[in-house]
Amino acid sequence: MSRIGVLTSGGDAPGMNAAVRAIVRYGIEAELEVYGIYKGYEGLINGLIKEMNRRSVSDILQRGGTILKTARSEEFKTEEGVKKGIDRARIFNLDLIVVIGGNGSFRGAKAISDMGMPVICIPCTIDNDLAYTEQTIGFDTAINTVLEAITRIRDTSSAHERTTVIEVMGRECGDLALYSGLAGGAEVALVPELVADMDYVCMKVMQGVNSGKQHSIIVKAEGYPVSTDDIVKEVAKRTGRSVKPVVLSYLQRGGSPSLRDRLIATECADVAINLIKAGEYNRAVGIINGKVTDISLSKALEAKRTFNEAMYNSIDILSK
Ligand code: F6P
Repeated sequence: MSRIGVLTSGGDAPGMNAAVRAIVRYGIEAELEVYGIYKGYEGLINGLIKEMNRRSVSDILQRGGTILKTARSEEFKTEEGVKKGIDRARIFNLDLIVVIGGNGSFRGAKAISDMGMPVICIPCTIDNDLAYTEQTIGFDTAINTVLEAITRIRDTSSAHERTTVIEVMGRECGDLALYSGLAGGAEVALVPELVADMDYVCMKVMQGVNSGKQHSIIVKAEGYPVSTDDIVKEVAKRTGRSVKPVVLSYLQRGGSPSLRDRLIATECADVAINLIKAGEYNRAVGIINGKVTDISLSKALEAKRTFNEAMYNSIDILSK
């Protein structure tokens, strides 16, 4: 193994650049040639591949987004697309591809490895939806961004004695809503894993009003099966309160990575390069029992998420 490619794929996340930087520099230190694959799997298919050196990753550690760019490739979801990508990688004599991304990116990596090209995966998504790892790179920064937004929204909600529904990202995973709901003192976190009904939501709002609360905050995961607008309308209708929506959207995906995300990204890259040097391929690096380590990619993809019900219940208890 002497020449590796590295790509970032799917939604960008703070810490992606830190991971790319560490892959390039640890890789070169381990006497590997490191090639950047631009625009994720789309770029792999189109041969957007260029050698990197230590200076190619200068001054990126603190930056959000990804210098390698990213994309969501429809073509790569087909067998033909995967074959094309592997052919391109072989033209550049790549022996292995390091994939930095979330769930969908890992599935793409599995398809590559099934066709004979070795891969190593590093979990990087704000969604925190990869079950095998205790945390994904990007989640910590995103959750802190959401928390800051909640803190600001509290001020104005309180001034107007309002209820605010704050929509956060996360696809089918409610962690962004759950963690920020608990740490931000929300009345309710609406998550896809445990669907609360409108009676409960309105009861929580009115319970707060009747006990003298100035405002109420409902944090809603985008994967919750009722739209933010419908929730706003319904809660306003049933409680007679002023209810406003705030969709945080891409605001929560950008920004300089936190200390934790930079450290995890760097450590994951270190483990990834060590695996490559040891000849261990098709592995997913992640945090297991508090330690950055690795498991087989197949096992990582089979792992089932467990919902943190205790955290959900705490939101209910603490907001009474
Ligand atoms: O996977 C990360 C994520 O930000 C999700 O939380 C969100 O649903 C999605 O990406 C948005 O994707 P796009 O950037 O394609 O709009």
